[in-house]
Amino acid sequence: MKLPKEIKRVSVPPIKCQGIKTKLVPFIMSSIRWSDANGTWIEPFAGSGVVVFNVKPQRAIINDANPFIIGFYKAIYDGTITPEIVRDYLRVEGRTLLLDNRKGTDSYFYRVRERFNETGSLLDFLFLSRSCFNGVMRFNGKGKFNVPFCQKPDRFRQAYITKITNQVASIKKAMTDKDWIFTSNDWKQTIELAEDGDFVYLDPPYIGRHVDYFNHWTEKEAKDLAKTTQALPENVGFALSMWKENKYRVNGHIEEEWAGNVERSFAHYYHIGSTESLRNEMQEALIIRQGCESEEAQVIIE
Ligand SMILES: C[S@@+](CC[C@H](N)C(=O)[O-])C[C@H]1O[C@@H](n2cnc3c(N)ncnc32)[C@H](O)[C@@H]1O
Repeated sequence: MKLPKEIKRVSVPPIKCQGIKTKLVPFIMSSIRWSDANGTWIEPFAGSGVVVFNVKPQRAIINDANPFIIGFYKAIYDGTITPEIVRDYLRVEGRTLLLDNRKGTDSYFYRVRERFNETGSLLDFLFLSRSCFNGVMRFNGKGKFNVPFCQKPDRFRQAYITKITNQVASIKKAMTDKDWIFTSNDWKQTIELAEDGDFVYLDPPYIGRHVDYFNHWTEKEAKDLAKTTQALPENVGFALSMWKENKYRVNGHIEEEWAGNVERSFAHYYHIGSTESLRNEMQEALIIRQGCESEEAQVIIE
């Protein structure tokens, strides 16, 4: 894939989720070789959608087990949610959040959460994603959103509303005149749609990391995914994102399940506490089907 010039600025989506690949988008796009002339970009674990919204393929199948993420993006695609609707909604709801707090209560966030859990309102979903603690996406065993408030009553200041509205406008632009299909199925039903010329980008959850209604992942599922992906017809390209190693551990799953593919890696840092000395390095891997990697020194997994 040729890196489009505008990728120097990664387009950031309006919905947040754990494992969002915003920082890795240039690395992913520059590591893959694929032409969208004859195929469909398939993302079984689309999450925030940051990868597909930057790749901007002509045809795409965008899937996630979480129906609210998919519902929100589908509504932008079909025009039922527009940047103007988002701006007006956030102005009204953001003001109510602030005024509620001035009355000495911060219950408005929880009222919206309750309303969302009853009605599944996609605008409320956006409100929660952008005002909950750390932008976490978590649903309890009954499928109810249960992340607490970020404790910032003035969360939806004018600049923040403009930022979110612009993010919606930017993905709306990326979707315009594209043949994109949005589904909320299990990854297996999505991956089996792949045909010659397609490219499958996979970003499954970390094994055992999350226990969530829409987002859990076991070693067995990870092995199933590795087997199913590598059995795809040979003219289907694939790439999979996965953590490779940190200071304490190496991810053995890569050698065990993905031998014979090309590996590219990228180091990024996360902070524990506030000082530089508590900066830890994490290596992220991109495992790419041989022949689908861009021209660069190759590392074949043995
Ligand atoms: C690591 S996140 C993807 C992050 C995404 N690439 C991004 O940059 O925002 C994994 C996603 O897989 C979804 N998911 C979990 N289990 C799934 C399953 N069995 N089938 C489809 N999607 C699943 C979760 O809802 C979550 O959004």
